[in-house]
Amino acid sequence: MKGVILAGGSGTRLHPLTRITNKHLLPIYDRPMVTYAIEALVGAGVTELMLVTGGTHAGEFFRLLGNGHEWGIDRLFYAYQEKPGGIAEALGLTERYVERDQVVVMLADNVLESSLRGPVDNFRAQEHGARILLAREDDPEHLRHLGVPELDGDGRVTRIVEKPEQPPSAFAVTGIYFYDETVWDVLPTLQPSGRGELEITDVNNWYVERGEMEYDVLDGFWGDAGESIDAYYAVNDFVRGSRA
Ligand code: G1P
Repeated sequence: MKGVILAGGSGTRLHPLTRITNKHLLPIYDRPMVTYAIEALVGAGVTELMLVTGGTHAGEFFRLLGNGHEWGIDRLFYAYQEKPGGIAEALGLTERYVERDQVVVMLADNVLESSLRGPVDNFRAQEHGARILLAREDDPEHLRHLGVPELDGDGRVTRIVEKPEQPPSAFAVTGIYFYDETVWDVLPTLQPSGRGELEITDVNNWYVERGEMEYDVLDGFWGDAGESIDAYYAVNDFVRGSRA
């Protein structure tokens, strides 16, 4: 299984901090944000990674990560996103790296407490389709800034709603996604959303409609540090509390 870490975007929700650096290089407690996603993937045995970034601070990732060996990465590849066009657009840049392999995609602003080992093993055993990770989130105000799944009586995902006014469940779709090779057929069919981006939720709904979307529910803390300045500090507080 190949790993992809997405660390692009303009980070407008964290302006003005992100006018002077890439969001994923901002500190979370004692380390740059992106290193938590690396640690999560490497800890789950995914040691071949491609990092996608863009903007004017891309070179800083080389300075931080180099060839990746210090971080436990066997082979580290980089791709450059020329303008922020969304998560699904960034993923498209990795097609010739992933080829026909399975891929796990992680947004570099996501921080989680539990190991990814179980979900990675579950997806390795999954014959085809996609897999998402859900996190319990009871605060509707929080869910309005995220992707939220609608679940039927059997616990199947029936659709995912991006940034819903009325959240259809008490779960967030986290920024960790697993895909089989059909993802490369879906990406070229996407149309930009209202925010002018190719949405990963549209990719996920394509799998949902075919009955090929599975999920795991994460235990413990999960946060998207790029969601808002408050979310950024909530993630910092969690990490600081767990390391101190
Ligand atoms: C993205 C996804 C959203 C998901 C979130 C998790 O949101 O679009 O579905 O819940 O990541 O971090 P964005 O950060 O692009 O607003």
